[in-house]
Amino acid sequence: MNIPPSPDPLDFSGKTVLVVGGSSGIGNGIAQGFRRRGASVHVWGTRASAALYQDEAGSDLQGLVFSQVDVADAAAVASALTPSVIDVLVLCQGIVAYGRKEFEVDTFRRIVDVNLNSLMACASRYRQTLSERRGSIITISSAGGLRATRGNPAYAASKAGAIHLTATLAQAWARQGIRVNGVAPGLVDTKLTKVTIANEERLRERLEGIPAGRLGTPQEMADACLFLASPMASYIYGQTLLVDGGRTL
Ligand SMILES: NC(=O)c1ccc[n+]([C@@H]2O[C@H](COP(=O)([O-])OP(=O)(O)OC[C@H]3O[C@@H](n4cnc5c(N)ncnc54)[C@H](OP(=O)(O)O)[C@@H]3O)[C@@H](O)[C@H]2O)c1
Repeated sequence: MNIPPSPDPLDFSGKTVLVVGGSSGIGNGIAQGFRRRGASVHVWGTRASAALYQDEAGSDLQGLVFSQVDVADAAAVASALTPSVIDVLVLCQGIVAYGRKEFEVDTFRRIVDVNLNSLMACASRYRQTLSERRGSIITISSAGGLRATRGNPAYAASKAGAIHLTATLAQAWARQGIRVNGVAPGLVDTKLTKVTIANEERLRERLEGIPAGRLGTPQEMADACLFLASPMASYIYGQTLLVDGGRTL
């Protein structure tokens, strides 16, 4: 007797995904990961049009629907029209500041606005549609949210907040049909980490601390998100999955 094949849990055909911060780097890899699995994918970024990312390494907007939304502006997020209905919301926006800038109050506030406050604004904007479609939210925090990062108080605090927000929203919205989880990446080569990665000495030091012996890739972050958004993770609520090559062990 032939056993019929079970449906592919990683087939996202017919699903609509919004990746906030999907214009570049990790978010762009996640967006293309969902697109390859059949989803219709929207991305938000800071520039006025998709064409302005054309020559940017780490930005492939082919097949994605781009909108400019400054997520630090809560009113802009609340009134965002595109997309209107979604099944998966990936919150991958993020910024960092170097040279002790994060010890200045204005910079601290700006980073917390983008890395933490905007997660709540975006999640609230899409709560209704995600509830109706029994969807899921995936936050992208950081391994830096789990330990002190001497030069980056705003980044570390905002990412710790993102991990806790993930758990709290999961608890609060589970009965509304929304699963909330997160991914905490280790070091990945993107425009956010250029300062570290372009410096040979710093890169060597960092690699020594990673048991896997190499950087992570946007595709590896995408794979973790695909799993968390899929039926394979149907009983996983409020968790943040470390995808860091063992760096925090
Ligand atoms: N790379 C790593 O090693 C690493 C490690 C741990 C965690 N992370 C986290 O992963 C996420 C993605 O970072 P990445 O490394 O891929 O850096 P990235 O290439 O600089 O991507 C950051 C994304 O956030 C968007 N963004 C920033 N400010 C925004 C704003 N005000 N409104 C809307 N979008 C905004 C950017 O838009 P534009 O493209 O228009 O600038 C871009 O799409 C971040 O949350 C970061 O903290 C990264």
